[in-house]
Amino acid sequence: MRAIITGHSGGLGAALCDALLARGCSVLGLSRRGNPALAAHFPDSLREVAIDLADPGAIDALVGGAPWRSFTDTDGRIALINNAGMLAPIGPVGQQGGAQIAQAVAVNVAAPLILTDAFVAATRRALDRRVLHVSSGAARSAYAGWSIYCATKAALDHHARAVIEDRQPGLHIASVAPGVIDTAMQDQIRAVDADRFPSVGRFRQLKADGHLQRPEDSARRLIAFLVDEDFGRDAAVDIRDLA
Ligand SMILES: NC(=O)c1ccc[n+]([C@@H]2O[C@H](COP(=O)([O-])OP(=O)(O)OC[C@H]3O[C@@H](n4cnc5c(N)ncnc54)[C@H](OP(=O)(O)O)[C@@H]3O)[C@@H](O)[C@H]2O)c1
Repeated sequence: MRAIITGHSGGLGAALCDALLARGCSVLGLSRRGNPALAAHFPDSLREVAIDLADPGAIDALVGGAPWRSFTDTDGRIALINNAGMLAPIGPVGQQGGAQIAQAVAVNVAAPLILTDAFVAATRRALDRRVLHVSSGAARSAYAGWSIYCATKAALDHHARAVIEDRQPGLHIASVAPGVIDTAMQDQIRAVDADRFPSVGRFRQLKADGHLQRPEDSARRLIAFLVDEDFGRDAAVDIRDLA
């Protein structure tokens, strides 16, 4: 199988990338920093493109370029994992700022939607093609201080629902809340003042009680879900609800 993963440089994306490479998949990793450790360990099966996914012009150049075209040209199985995401701006409406809102919408919504469109256009020959949006419980539960994050993740869920209605041949899509994972994003969550994020205490407690998932464990569950024959039956899924 081939897989394109956004945000493969750290956190959940790095764990997904590592697990797929270890299974023998070819991976195209897209992020700003790249992943030198995985690139050194899997020189033949990991290709990387350094890209700022907040920049739609850079995404246009990517999907018109040779690495994307050769990677998506397959009659086999291929997946796109839209994992890259950002939490900022955190704070109540009125204190968020236009530039930060625009960046969050670009990274969390525009990039996955543009990449999905380009992926489906480029993989018409593929036997089986799958798109996994990494969503969040925040798509379905509203949190004070997270209105931008909540709205952007809800957009991914509804995008998956509508794409299913397009019934494209061989295409399966799902938007998946992965649970609470011990990554840099959680460090960022715990560092915010309660004035800006009133639920911060709950996340500090989850960490203190050892209730965060390890990225490797989350990646294993997400990949099992991605390759399952039922993938795409439900558009919006919480991995914690699956057996
Ligand atoms: N951690 C959790 O508890 C949790 C819970 C629910 C959902 N999620 C979702 O899971 C996904 C991964 O989160 P994480 O916790 O692993 O976050 P993370 O540790 O902060 O990693 C974020 C990844 O996204 C990439 N990224 C961010 N902005 C980018 C940009 N402008 N251009 C290209 N890549 C960009 C980063 O790569 P570069 O910095 O190299 O560009 C990095 O690889 C996100 O979509 C997040 O919303 C996480």
